[in-house]
Amino acid sequence: MSLRVLSVASEAVPLIKTGGLADVVGALPAALAPHDVIMTTMLPGYPAVMKAIGKGRTLYTYPALLGEPARLVAAKLGAHPLVVLDAPAYFGREGGPYADPAGTDWADNWRRFAAFGRAAADLAGGAVKARRFDLLHAHDWQAAMAVAYMRFAPPEGGRTVPSIMTIHNMAFQGWSRADTFAGLGLPREAWSVHGVEYHGGVGFLKAGMEAASCITTVSPTYACEIRAPEFGMGLEGIVVSREDRMRGILNGIDTAQWNPESDRELPASFGPGTLDRRTKNKRALEAEFGLEPGDGPLFIVIGRLTWQKGMDVLLRALDHLVGIGGRLALLGSGEAALEAGFHAAAVRHPGRIAVRTAYDEALSHRMQGGGDAILIPSRFEPCGLTQLYGQAYGCVPVVARTGGLADTVIDANVAALQAGVATGIQFDGVTIHSLTAAISRANALYYQPEQWRRLQRNGMQCDFSWSRSGKAYADLYAQLVEEHR
Ligand code: ADP
Ligand code: GLC
Repeated sequence: MSLRVLSVASEAVPLIKTGGLADVVGALPAALAPHDVIMTTMLPGYPAVMKAIGKGRTLYTYPALLGEPARLVAAKLGAHPLVVLDAPAYFGREGGPYADPAGTDWADNWRRFAAFGRAAADLAGGAVKARRFDLLHAHDWQAAMAVAYMRFAPPEGGRTVPSIMTIHNMAFQGWSRADTFAGLGLPREAWSVHGVEYHGGVGFLKAGMEAASCITTVSPTYACEIRAPEFGMGLEGIVVSREDRMRGILNGIDTAQWNPESDRELPASFGPGTLDRRTKNKRALEAEFGLEPGDGPLFIVIGRLTWQKGMDVLLRALDHLVGIGGRLALLGSGEAALEAGFHAAAVRHPGRIAVRTAYDEALSHRMQGGGDAILIPSRFEPCGLTQLYGQAYGCVPVVARTGGLADTVIDANVAALQAGVATGIQFDGVTIHSLTAAISRANALYYQPEQWRRLQRNGMQCDFSWSRSGKAYADLYAQLVEEHR
């Protein structure tokens, strides 16, 4: 018998994306399908999502979902089932999923995502007769209340199903003041240390972690790291107390979207045996960014310009990068001061550093296919996807040794080089010294073409597909459903 899973999240490609969460949620249904899991994804009805799904078929109508009219609409996410919460009062606004057009978080985010969680718990519990589910899988704080409602206020007449709380990033916890509790529609006993109460207010992620049958995070190393305050960010106590229910399951990549042999964005497609063809992509990338053409290493950066990603440290390493003959193409947006800093560096080093503060999926493919090395100096990284895309595309990752970066890149140390297994460069501690040393190591290896080719080929031959992790999730689903019987 197939298992029917409701995967609840605030983002999923190709409908709405601000980061890696969307890639993972969008890829999961296909990753689970070979394991006899039928996954329905549930998303909020942001304008972009409503536009993409068209009219849709109404599955369920709420006269008042935490006070506002709403409906559940059936649609498709690629070939897989999708349910969208159409609730204009909560989601029908211009701006990002979590913030207004100026970048300020919506003040009522707690209410928007509580309503989303309430509806997800109802759906998972059987509110729509024709849609039965065996398990609820919630991603990050925006979906965490689904798990809390399932535990503390299951749908009337519905059934309780087991649940998984997946943490994609512990830094975002969804905290709100104590007076929001009254608006959640939860029974009083939910206000406790083992419920939603957290530091005198309401903690969504915390509530999900307490209430879930099992907690997962997106790499084995991050699952260990969040046991300590530096990475647990206040929730380390729960991680430790629930360690028997904690798993680290590494993200995969969608190899249909990310395949250098068939990627239509690339001027020249290539594989491990035709790496010479990358030169054409490199030349095109230099031209696109207005960089001086050259045979020296072309570093790239793709990502959010934030403290998490170590972008402040990278900024201070740029003079060194240029000094040793490197060039940099950066695509990213984020904190205003960092954006300004990178623009200033580009002015200081014309032709050597070029910056695009935009969100451009197609360009990110061309960068992975033409850049020589991708820099990822993250202070913490639950999994990270750009180092996986880099390896698939022969763009050698230079990464901080943390979280999923530690789990997926094999450092080119002497032993690994001798054994011929290295795929990139790792460094310890995100400091100016460690990062500049790593850039210098990359530069030195780049000028040893045989070694460099080997790094590229090794990365390209790694299996980062979803096959292993799809099975790991499927096994976990089966175990939890069995335990719940
Ligand atoms: P995070 O989710 O923490 O931002 P990940 O590495 O898991 O980090 O995922 C980031 C995803 O977003 C990747 O698919 C990456 O290619 C993409 N991305 C980040 N910034 C940009 C951008 N400015 N333009 C295009 N894609 C981007
Ligand atoms: C988060 C993390 C990132 C991870 C992604 C998908 O955004 O910051 O490391 O790859 O989620 O799980």
